[in-house]
Amino acid sequence: RRSVVIGCGSALPARCVTNDELSRTVDTSDDWIVQRTGIRQRYLADAGETTSVLGARAARAALDAAGLTADDIDLIICATSTPDHTFPSTATEIQAALGMRGGFAFDVQAVCAGFVYAVTTADKFLSTGSARRALVIGAETFSRILDWEDRTTCVLFGDGAGAIVLEAQDGAGTSADRGVLTASLRSDGRHRDKLYVDGGPGSTGTTGHLRMTGKEVFRFAVGSVTDVIDEAFRASGTTADDLAWFVPHQANRRIIEASADKLGIAREKVVLTVDRHGNTSAASIPLALDVACKDGRIRAGDLVMIEAIGGGFTWGAALIRW
Ligand code: ACO
Repeated sequence: RRSVVIGCGSALPARCVTNDELSRTVDTSDDWIVQRTGIRQRYLADAGETTSVLGARAARAALDAAGLTADDIDLIICATSTPDHTFPSTATEIQAALGMRGGFAFDVQAVCAGFVYAVTTADKFLSTGSARRALVIGAETFSRILDWEDRTTCVLFGDGAGAIVLEAQDGAGTSADRGVLTASLRSDGRHRDKLYVDGGPGSTGTTGHLRMTGKEVFRFAVGSVTDVIDEAFRASGTTADDLAWFVPHQANRRIIEASADKLGIAREKVVLTVDRHGNTSAASIPLALDVACKDGRIRAGDLVMIEAIGGGFTWGAALIRW
């Protein structure tokens, strides 16, 4: 059995903030941000636009695209590092918002790599017959954990959510080879001090703020994470030439382009949305997937590589025949 993508959707907060607007309250400039990161704007949530609210909106859009209702789903996995509450999980909050009473729901936390971890986890349940249809969601409100006085981090992130519906399909009678073909995950906890939040119930007792050594994250992102992509190509017997689209985590245009170049992936195959969304952590890949599906780039049968790295460090890649 294969886990086939049968719908996707996304949700953004109403308020869009350009670099120029940001430079009125933070000592920065449009030039600096665009040159270093490729980011031109980001969406920032208001008080009512919580992670679960955005996640539920994205989930409903994905269900609509798949022509399903919440009752057709028996698994929800939500990737987030910015839950509404420590518990219950954002996934069960979304389950309630959707009016879904069956199945089971839980969160995964792998920061920016969360969506790749969530897809990989859902695929295990679907391919082994433990679930039939899964909503896999990436939802974040990083604006709530940013230090708005720290210009080296606050200009980089945005809020939003994206979701896909995965359905377990038997090989027989379906278009050849559709679905999640292979996925590989990694983590190395020794790098915790390069990207972390300086709060939490077990430390300060407050939510805390994101802290990052940007240069080291950059170096690791470009230098080390291509191993999971090479592994995905090897395991599936495909190469960069077979890819229709490369949809990496949208942290930074320079990281994305340097990684694509290193892997021999043509720049025109790279889906880039960091310019309009900023870095939305676990939400960035499903947001980008939804953009590329809606504008007609990603079509059924396309070979799509998703890839991400996040705090920990955690990283991973998955190859999907759309
Ligand atoms: N506006 C204007 N100037 C700034 C800003 C800003 N927002 N932020 C920093 N500067 C200044 C610095 O103070 C410094 O000034 P100085 O030379 O007078 O000391 C100068 O710009 C250069 O700062 P650097 O930190 O050296 O800038 P760098 O070229 O390394 O770029 C950046 C910083 C964009 C964060 C880069 O390191 C990077 O892209 N890192 C990757 C981190 C990333 O993308 N993380 C996302 C989260 S992790 C993830 O998603 C996987």
